[in-house]
Amino acid sequence: MPGMLLGDIVPNFEADSTFGRLKLHDFLGDSWGVLFSHPRDFTPVCTTELGRAAQLSPEFSRRNVKLIALSVDSLEDHHSWSKDIMAYNNMDAGSEFPFPIIADDRRHLVEMLGMLDPEEKDQTGMPLSARCVFVIGPDKKLKLSILYPATTGRNFDEILRVVDSLQLTAHNRVATPVDWRPGDSVMVPPSIPEQEAMTLFPAGVYTKDLPSGKKYLRYTPQPNPISSDCTDG
Ligand code: BEZ
Repeated sequence: MPGMLLGDIVPNFEADSTFGRLKLHDFLGDSWGVLFSHPRDFTPVCTTELGRAAQLSPEFSRRNVKLIALSVDSLEDHHSWSKDIMAYNNMDAGSEFPFPIIADDRRHLVEMLGMLDPEEKDQTGMPLSARCVFVIGPDKKLKLSILYPATTGRNFDEILRVVDSLQLTAHNRVATPVDWRPGDSVMVPPSIPEQEAMTLFPAGVYTKDLPSGKKYLRYTPQPNPISSDCTDG
């Protein structure tokens, strides 16, 4: 199945969405993007996922990230289901669903982008879209991809966390360790020699002593995040 590799330019596809006809690169403009697929409208796990994404949408906006959902259902279904999601979230029924949902009912995009789950089929035996997440940089390149099967719901707080790491590491020569949260110390990558690290990180570099004697576990305080609306991400 075709798919995308990290660093690939995400195709500038056109599609119908609940926000009208959308051309991906134009819709994103200078923003980051999170394009994520779900198996089917009017299903329980998907409802909880899109509900959580809707709750977190102000947090994504604050980071200059545009959310876009996608499934193989029709526009009509998306409009009707969004009302269910709002009700699940106890959101005002009159308010607009905060991000577009693409109607890929002809399956062009899920096939092109490698989002199908061959293990999960609908009543007619057609494969459903998997729970795929693509984080797209302002340069329109794929920065991160996640692929979950239909039976496992994603964690949108984790997606927000990885966006924080991606935006920080796009502008600073650092890496974020396991379970990193904004404000925690970050790591100096192995490619940076000791002398260079001292000048690059004036706040200091702390190296943990290890039995091997090798000095690769190097921490430095998190550099100040640079505004995420920079376009060279
Ligand atoms: C769900 O969203 O609940 C779901 C969808 C397809 C397969 C399994 C679960």
